[in-house]
Amino acid sequence: MEKRVAVLQGDGIGPEVTSAAVRVLEVIARRFNHTFHFEYGAIGGDAIDRYNNPLPAETIALCEASDAILLGAVGGPKWDQNPSELRPEKGLLAIRKHFDLFANLRPVKAVPSLIQASPLKESVAKEVDMMIVRELTGGIYFGQPSRFTDESAVDTLVYTRPEIERIVEKAFELARLRRGKVTSVDKANVLSSSKLWRQIVDEKKQGYPDVEVEHQLVDSAAMKLITNPSAFDVIVTENMFGDILSDEASVITGSLGLLPSASVRTDGFGLYEPVHGSAPDVAGKGVANPAAAILSAAMMLKYSFGMETEAAAIEKAVETVFEEGCFTADLAVDDKKLSTAEWTDKVVDELDLQFVSNSIMFSYV
Ligand SMILES: NC(=O)c1ccc[n+]([C@@H]2O[C@H](COP(=O)([O-])OP(=O)(O)OC[C@H]3O[C@@H](n4cnc5c(N)ncnc54)[C@H](O)[C@@H]3O)[C@@H](O)[C@H]2O)c1
Repeated sequence: MEKRVAVLQGDGIGPEVTSAAVRVLEVIARRFNHTFHFEYGAIGGDAIDRYNNPLPAETIALCEASDAILLGAVGGPKWDQNPSELRPEKGLLAIRKHFDLFANLRPVKAVPSLIQASPLKESVAKEVDMMIVRELTGGIYFGQPSRFTDESAVDTLVYTRPEIERIVEKAFELARLRRGKVTSVDKANVLSSSKLWRQIVDEKKQGYPDVEVEHQLVDSAAMKLITNPSAFDVIVTENMFGDILSDEASVITGSLGLLPSASVRTDGFGLYEPVHGSAPDVAGKGVANPAAAILSAAMMLKYSFGMETEAAAIEKAVETVFEEGCFTADLAVDDKKLSTAEWTDKVVDELDLQFVSNSIMFSYV
């Protein structure tokens, strides 16, 4: 297959971790006979410095001509005092909106060799393997009117049927690729938008008889994420609930440096980025953990390009490197801290090894 990937490295550690992800994708291309064309564009603070715009037209054009977007991170103290239209995060919000990337997918999976970093007991955290599907382009963050005065403030929570239908369908489809269970999270005992949400989930489940469905109120879902997180497979929820629950879930694995994410639309086009930020405190030192960016690239292969075997190869390689006790500084418990490049070398070596052992296996069949 031949694919074009727009690489938006962004700020801080963004260039370091996306370069690692590109290296891994190049190995996948070589090993599986694909061609990936990587083309680079500016976003965030980098784009403000070069174009006086956090999302320049050149970047939009580049992404429109691509099959998927791989993004690093945006932001940093250099731009913190800028006026709101020249803030790096404006670029991120604008690109999600421009491409109608309505479904935010955040997998949270425990890594056995890192389970001691979880704030939860090992027995509670060790089986965690869930996918949070958050509606990203509607709800209270976008509803009008929205206004603030010293005496009163208004936010508006609106959801339309098509907005709910498409995110719920996405969750059902993802559940089919996983353990076949969807937990729909709402506040249907209070909110009208949640009542419509619940009604649509019940309508849609008729088309997915193989998927088990449960409804859960957001307050009890927040508790269950701590007391019994392994009970969840796919969680689907609206924008603000998803924002809060996905951050709560993200700490279960013990490190921000491990979590990938995707923001996709129905035709498979998507933007893939680590959950972490630009980590200005470690930027430019060559010590950033590239695991989340590499796993985001794996999500791109799986969800935008339909390359499930290739994605699984990357996930296995990352897991094996951790099992071998190889860590970057954020996770290392002793003095054996690998640099970003050294840790990426390990993943590349592991992928090469997988390929060699598979070839040997096939040559005996
Ligand atoms: N999606 C994004 O681009 C995004 C997300 C969150 C924050 N931000 C921006 O990033 C900047 C810094 O924000 P923050 O400090 O709150 O969050 P952060 O995620 O950048 O960093 C939090 C802490 O985790 C560490 N860390 C994060 N990722 C790491 C990695 N891959 N390897 C090693 N250590 C890592 C950092 O060194 C820091 O100590 C801010 O400007 C913020 O607005 C951007």
